[in-house]
Amino acid sequence: MVDSIVERRTNRLVVDRRRKHGEVVSGNITWTETKVTPAERAQLLGHEASTIWLTGLSGSGKSTIAYELEKQLIWMGHVAYTLDGDNIRFGLSRDLSFAPEDRTENIRRIAEVCKLFNDAGILVVTAFISPYRVDRAMAREIVGADRFIETHLATAIEVCEERDPKGLYKKARAGAISDFTGISAPYESPENPSLLVDTSRMSVLESVSEIMRVVTPRFRQE
Ligand SMILES: Nc1ncnc2c1ncn2[C@@H]1O[C@H](COP(=O)(O)OP(=O)(O)OP(=O)(O)O)[C@@H](O)[C@H]1O
Ligand SMILES: [Mg+2]
Repeated sequence: MVDSIVERRTNRLVVDRRRKHGEVVSGNITWTETKVTPAERAQLLGHEASTIWLTGLSGSGKSTIAYELEKQLIWMGHVAYTLDGDNIRFGLSRDLSFAPEDRTENIRRIAEVCKLFNDAGILVVTAFISPYRVDRAMAREIVGADRFIETHLATAIEVCEERDPKGLYKKARAGAISDFTGISAPYESPENPSLLVDTSRMSVLESVSEIMRVVTPRFRQE
């Protein structure tokens, strides 16, 4: 149950004891089918819709790689869009904290957005720590296993902490951030990812090339 949330702009505590995250409360609704098939959209856009789901520690390079990948996909003539962890929390998930249940809700919302984008025929790249296996399994189920390409940026925490591009590890070590993945909250590595990239061994461009090499055959239509 959501007891309270901190309203981000004002830092005001808003109490909401009405419902659980993701609880189904809509009634009297009926699904209406589109008249356009996935194959028609794929033919129009030149690719099958997919979700390239990047997971890894803070500082592993998810945002850096996602936006480079998105740029290259666009240059190749694909319709691609990145959903980024921090960016999403400026809007869609602004009401969510980093507590486990809020992370789960965050991933549920993102997965639903991926599904909508994929239904529209768009390639999606996501950049979320998504530390819990069960949450990534939920995302895979929502998006659809055939469209979900799990990519683990398996960079060691020592390297991520050394990079510390946002100064977050420093703050977390000083106790200024709670629920920080790798320090005060767990990261559960994927057991069987489609792809594993160690960004301490490969440059950004090499990492993107490696991802391209593995993922393009899965969505490209010749
Ligand atoms: N091979 C590499 N791949 C990706 N990033 C790299 C690489 N080498 C160095 N970096 C640097 O590491 C940092 C990665 O930061 P980035 O914000 O992309 O991480 P993130 O995984 O999105 O973290 P967060 O979960 O906090 O959003 C950047 O400063 C980037 O320039
Ligand atoms: Mg990021």
